[in-house]
Amino acid sequence: MKNQIKIESPIKPFKKQIEVSSDKSLSIRCILLSSIALGRSKIFNLLDSEDVNNTLKVIKKIGVNYIKKKNFIEVHGVGINGFKIKDNTIIDAGNSGTLARLIMGLCSASEKKFKIIGDNSLSKRDFSRVITPLNLFGVQIVSNKNLLPIEMRGSNLLRPIMYEEKKGSAQIKTCIIFSAINTHGVTRIKALHSRNHTELLLKYLNYPMKIKKQKKYDLIELKGLNQFKSFNYKIPGDISSASFFITLTLLSKDSELLIKNINLNPSRIGILKILKKMNAKIKLLNVKNYKGEVIGDIKIKSTKKLKSINCPKSLNSATIDEFLLIFLIAAKSKGISIFKDLGELNKKESPRLDVAIKFLKMIGIKTKRVKNNVKIYGNPELKLDGKYHVKNFLKDHRVFMMSTIAALTLNGHWTIEDKDSINTSFPKFLRMIKNFGAKIN
Ligand code: S3P
Repeated sequence: MKNQIKIESPIKPFKKQIEVSSDKSLSIRCILLSSIALGRSKIFNLLDSEDVNNTLKVIKKIGVNYIKKKNFIEVHGVGINGFKIKDNTIIDAGNSGTLARLIMGLCSASEKKFKIIGDNSLSKRDFSRVITPLNLFGVQIVSNKNLLPIEMRGSNLLRPIMYEEKKGSAQIKTCIIFSAINTHGVTRIKALHSRNHTELLLKYLNYPMKIKKQKKYDLIELKGLNQFKSFNYKIPGDISSASFFITLTLLSKDSELLIKNINLNPSRIGILKILKKMNAKIKLLNVKNYKGEVIGDIKIKSTKKLKSINCPKSLNSATIDEFLLIFLIAAKSKGISIFKDLGELNKKESPRLDVAIKFLKMIGIKTKRVKNNVKIYGNPELKLDGKYHVKNFLKDHRVFMMSTIAALTLNGHWTIEDKDSINTSFPKFLRMIKNFGAKIN
């Protein structure tokens, strides 16, 4: 069977209520933190996807057991520095940059040599961003031009560091926090704002940590080697997965959607802030606090009069995985949208900024790019009737899903390759879309 889909007709108006898959960032973090907790943790609603299943395989390989029960996964934590890593263990992170970078921090105290590998897409991504701080802790790392495969040997005599994280990357920040947990003494991080699930989980676990919020940065102070107990956690829905359905609704005619139980952490909802500025009909309902995270429901209505945005750079990190969708919406909005400083987009599963510009050109949308700044010339009347073939995007799940939403809202005859890519983050995406009445072959 071919690993592609064909879409020939747009979606019909709908009125629905859904739940999407569980949050990927929280799923991976809960597994990793429960592996160094003391005792048995229960994680409910864990995302069932390749990135998360690879995380489970990795903890098993380094000596952490878990049992899959009917409604939860029970992780048998071994405590800080309790991993049993054999010499030359191979840790396969698959497609997941988050898993690869976080596990490097988590295993930074291993005296045994181990190797991190990944798939074709992950093997093209830069790891200097975590190699530099890990070296400062005293971890020895060998790589070819900062790419996977990476060989690493840690130490149980790591030294605490002071580090300025300037990319707004939660993967870098969490890698450093995990390594700091393995380190005697106080590590200080000045980190440009980025998603803060790790900090919130550690706060919930009463881990000794101080955080001072500044306008652009967080100042984090963290004392190493403080053991915490096992915990129970129920993972809410993923705003990044919900965003495909938010976009589908906004760009469809006469439709309405309620998405239940989504993680609305302020460091993740850049897309909602941007869309509100663009006139989108979006409301948040039943907002509450869960163990430090904000969760709630999102109500969306089709919006005819979407307008362009001059997007503040300060929203980049909180929107980082949603820009492909924002660009698609900008393409259907009135006016010229402006986005700045999006270099980090080219560091993802595929070079997403390059891919997005190519995609917009393919559907006849004018763009102007100067370095990592982009102008998108919106066309609210955009309606396609040609043939469109989306291919060669390094099997990037988000490119596949964004293209599916484009095909279902812009007309035209579409072939989209690499449907298996959704398995990394949102395996039930196509099944759910079909439940909306979409005709997909
Ligand atoms: C993630 C952080 C983001 C995001 C990725 C998941 C995380 O990457 O793009 O999909 O769970 O920490 P960066 O932190 O590198 O921007």
